[in-house]
Amino acid sequence: MLPATYTSPQAYFKSSLEFLSEYSWIYESANTCFIKDGILEIFPKEFVKYFLHINTNDLNIFPFVHHTSPAIEQESIQNFRKRLKRLIPEESFSNPCYPDITFAHIKTKFRKVNLKKQHEILRLGHLITTLCDDYRIIIDFGSGLGYLSEIVSVLKKDIHMLGLESDNCRVDEAKKRQLEFMFNTLDTISYKQETITCESKNFIEMETQEIIRRNELVEPIKMAIIGLHACGDLTITSIKLFLQMSEVKSLIIMPCCYHKMQMNTSTTFTNFPLSKTLKSEVKMNTRFSQILNRPFLRLACQQTGERWRQCTELEHSVHAIEMFERAVAEAILNPDGSEKIIKLKKKNKHNDNYKFNDFTKNFVVQLKETNKSLEWNHTHEHKFNEIIEKYPNGHKLAEGLTCLQTTLQKLCENIVLYDRLCYLEEEAAEQGLKINVRYEKIFNEKLSPRCYVLIAQKL
Ligand SMILES: C[S@@+](CC[C@H](N)C(=O)[O-])C[C@H]1O[C@@H](n2cnc3c(N)ncnc32)[C@H](O)[C@@H]1O
Repeated sequence: MLPATYTSPQAYFKSSLEFLSEYSWIYESANTCFIKDGILEIFPKEFVKYFLHINTNDLNIFPFVHHTSPAIEQESIQNFRKRLKRLIPEESFSNPCYPDITFAHIKTKFRKVNLKKQHEILRLGHLITTLCDDYRIIIDFGSGLGYLSEIVSVLKKDIHMLGLESDNCRVDEAKKRQLEFMFNTLDTISYKQETITCESKNFIEMETQEIIRRNELVEPIKMAIIGLHACGDLTITSIKLFLQMSEVKSLIIMPCCYHKMQMNTSTTFTNFPLSKTLKSEVKMNTRFSQILNRPFLRLACQQTGERWRQCTELEHSVHAIEMFERAVAEAILNPDGSEKIIKLKKKNKHNDNYKFNDFTKNFVVQLKETNKSLEWNHTHEHKFNEIIEKYPNGHKLAEGLTCLQTTLQKLCENIVLYDRLCYLEEEAAEQGLKINVRYEKIFNEKLSPRCYVLIAQKL
């Protein structure tokens, strides 16, 4: 999604990469390692001052760069938000209404399914049936337990669903569910075990031909590929198959788990960056390829600001102290890497009056190789006291760091999503295919943070 302030993807990617190279310290270390990795040393002084004194309301609204103005005196922080505002597109949330039948089905057949999943299948199912009114075959990628296939066939009686899923147990569960709740769909929904790759075209064509033959469907038949939470590379595979298969006229897919994409070297991903546009911008500067790393992808698929916004002062305080303590624990281990930390489940009450004795009641130190528990020693204690003396309010900086990560999250996710959209447009243009491609935000972000659906239609 290109923010309104940009007219070309090149310019957008370039500005985003420049911005991220300045601020990659915000996400490059795991939160458990931010002290050990020296992030507090590079936390800019004005940011330190700001987050040591920020109140809960300002902390909560800070990530919403488009619609809020927390009190900020520091110019560098105002600048940070101003620049991000240009890089994050403003969004709208479509709010479709649903036919009663879906509600009835959800009420009776999805009682054990959590509210988040109900919300997702209801909205996505409704969108699919609206966009695929004259379609006869829909292929559900990563069909899992079959919820989406089920809802689509409840909403659209003349549809034939093919659910493809790599995990055999899930295929069996989906079939079991079909026998229990959807007996009348035995002819119209089939679940098959298949690990979908870019080579799956023949398998899918064989299966869809079988559906056409068995049901005496009259060709040409319009088909669509759909998916809910098509994780890791599965969304990219769906894009490639959509482009390869002429019978597939639409792709309606919700991606997730960007950080689970496959790596082709220890530092680069097979499918990210994907578009020629982003790839060529990344090539301009070696620093750019370093910042589009796994922590970047992990941040792209973290909780969005909506959850953050609702945190109470107490919740922030508990999170801040826990994150700081965990990072202190990591920072005081033997630097030779032989030790590891285990956080005890039965926790001592956390407080911000840090004492080594209290701390050792919350964590155990073990030898990495043998899992043998060790005694906390004087070196640990000395390092602990050194850190606490240097950062007496380190927990507030920990929460400040999380706040900055939450603020960057939308930009990171947008780069991943927009890169895929650019790829689709580039490849279609190369093949002479006319397509319409866009994202829609269809889920309530508070319930379901991965809320963007990729919609591609051949014209
Ligand atoms: C996050 S789950 C979503 C399941 C289902 N769509 C839902 O929303 O309930 C992703 C599913 O995709 C399946 N999957 C991942 N990669 C796959 C692949 N290459 N081929 C087939 N299934 C895959 C996983 O086994 C998993 O069941």
